[in-house]
Amino acid sequence: LGTSSLKLLLVDDKGAVIKEASREYPLIFPHPGWSEQDPALWWKAVEETMPELLEGIDASPVKGIGAGGQMHGLVVLDKDDNIIRPAILWNDGRTQKEVDFLNNEIGKGKLSDMTANIAFAGFTAPKILWVKANEPEQYAKIAKVMLPKDYINYKLTGVHCCDYSDAAGMLLLDVKNKCWSKQMLDICGITENQMPKLFESYETVGTVLPEIADKFGISGDVKVCAGAGDNAAAAVGTGIVSDGKAFTTIGTSGVVFAHTSSVQIDPKGIVHTFCCAVPGCWHIMGVTQAAGLSLKWFRDNFCKEEMDEAEKQGVNEYFLMDKMAEQIPIGSDKLIYLPYLMGERTPHLDPDIRGTFFGLSAMHTKAHFIRAVMEGVAFSLRDCKNIISEMGTDISDMMACGGGGTSKLWRSMLADLYSCPVKTVGCKEGPALGVAILAFVGAGVYESVESACEAMISTDKTQEPDAQRTAEYEKYYQLYTKLYGSVADNCRELASL
Ligand code: XUL
Repeated sequence: LGTSSLKLLLVDDKGAVIKEASREYPLIFPHPGWSEQDPALWWKAVEETMPELLEGIDASPVKGIGAGGQMHGLVVLDKDDNIIRPAILWNDGRTQKEVDFLNNEIGKGKLSDMTANIAFAGFTAPKILWVKANEPEQYAKIAKVMLPKDYINYKLTGVHCCDYSDAAGMLLLDVKNKCWSKQMLDICGITENQMPKLFESYETVGTVLPEIADKFGISGDVKVCAGAGDNAAAAVGTGIVSDGKAFTTIGTSGVVFAHTSSVQIDPKGIVHTFCCAVPGCWHIMGVTQAAGLSLKWFRDNFCKEEMDEAEKQGVNEYFLMDKMAEQIPIGSDKLIYLPYLMGERTPHLDPDIRGTFFGLSAMHTKAHFIRAVMEGVAFSLRDCKNIISEMGTDISDMMACGGGGTSKLWRSMLADLYSCPVKTVGCKEGPALGVAILAFVGAGVYESVESACEAMISTDKTQEPDAQRTAEYEKYYQLYTKLYGSVADNCRELASL
């Protein structure tokens, strides 16, 4: 359950993708910096796409279903399980007041003790406080708080459930001890009854409801596992299940994720510490708010010709955009993009910062803009990787996944900026493959997440870094890191107008 689209994969027990289907849905931006989606559209996408996925297929051998999805979104249901208001998504920046209350009045130290993280505008707890303060009538109706993919699991099974990896991103979970933090729930005025039941990602939460089995033509014995937040799911789907392993994903957001077998907390709170889908393990991750979103925004607004041409040629428009960017030199002829369309998380934790093209000159063409957007996103991911490395987490193995991870050019930017090889796996849909792997473990086909990964994941291409290109990128990256400081105050002023 991505931010831009739903992707369904039908996967066999060797990890081969038998069939795929997907459906885009809109993101609603009711005000600058706000971001919402209607959970009913997510379920409608499932209802429409599942028959496409299963068309012409004998679905009787299907053993399990897993869902993974965009994290942190606040989904609230009333006592009859009706959706109370549109979901407030992970990239929504409306909660600065609530974040300031949590970080300054409750205090970052106490928050970190309770949840292993500090507050950020995209997390779920500040959104609950926002609804309480701004929509008291809606707040009073809340019978269940859940996360996006858990709404799908609820529709499939009738069970209100959540897994630890996704729950960790609510700022309501005691991440170290893997239970709801009573103190944090009290701060939000929520009781444990209003929270979903917690499971390990591979654990079965229930079987599909009889009417669902009928609707999709699958057996009523199909087990639904708890699933995972999209990043923990991508870790499983790319085999990042032991120390030293990390991945970068370029989906709507961009993430640098490193597996840790012990709880590691960034003293500055800039990278998050969450549970992972391997029982007894955690991960740290830094996030670029608008990674794939930056290129999608550019495509939607300025690349109509490329989209028409791609349709004519029967290729993906991003493929054509990549080709254009490849013609432009490193540094985009001195055009630098700051990818802060939705504020920024790592390393700035600043919902008011906004995107910038810096160095614009009359010689720049559309192709320069495309390359600058890709480079700006890669610079931001380098920021994330730096902090993880500074925490002493040694990354010896970096995978790339997500839609952007399929771009050779983007992967080569990452390899050069990280100065390390960047690999891919055979299946490009890391999070979806990850939850399929979890479902196989839940259905008892494999004994552990690690053994299932071993059996089901194949590695593919490796992009090696090039010292000369690294040196060239480094000059632009160094300037990029200074630009945030040059525009931050002006962005705050802009936000206050
Ligand atoms: C992670 C995050 C995003 C979303 C959407 O903290 O906010 O990666 O999960 O993909």
